[in-house]
Amino acid sequence: MFVTRKAEFSASHVCRIRSLTEAENLELFGPEANANGHGHNYIVEVTLEGDPDPVSGMVMDLKELKDILNEEIVGPMDHRFLNYEVPPFDRVVPTAENVANEIWRRLANRLRSPAAKLARVRLFEGPDLYVDVVSGDETA
Ligand code: NI
Repeated sequence: MFVTRKAEFSASHVCRIRSLTEAENLELFGPEANANGHGHNYIVEVTLEGDPDPVSGMVMDLKELKDILNEEIVGPMDHRFLNYEVPPFDRVVPTAENVANEIWRRLANRLRSPAAKLARVRLFEGPDLYVDVVSGDETA
């Protein structure tokens, strides 16, 4: 069975590579490279896989999952400028792919129960774009 919890945060970012010129960054990232940065309303969906406990009927205590999402993702990232305030985005370009990978890494450190395995992190950067990290292809 798969259980999914959703969380939202708003953050600013800019996609630039320091070793590239202004023109090269604009060529690679388009408007995302504008040095002033810009905001996104991110939505993250975290999916756990497991069988409901025969007594509690739950795969995991979803209040606990909510607390973990607040501690690891929403608290540190909401209303932040990712490049300046949230490591590792001082050195890793905060594309949707890299932000999703970082979310996976943070959650994988907290969700170690074999009964409720982290199966997928889906990160929406906006209403029409999302990336999935699934068990097995995370880079963490
Ligand atoms: Ni952007």
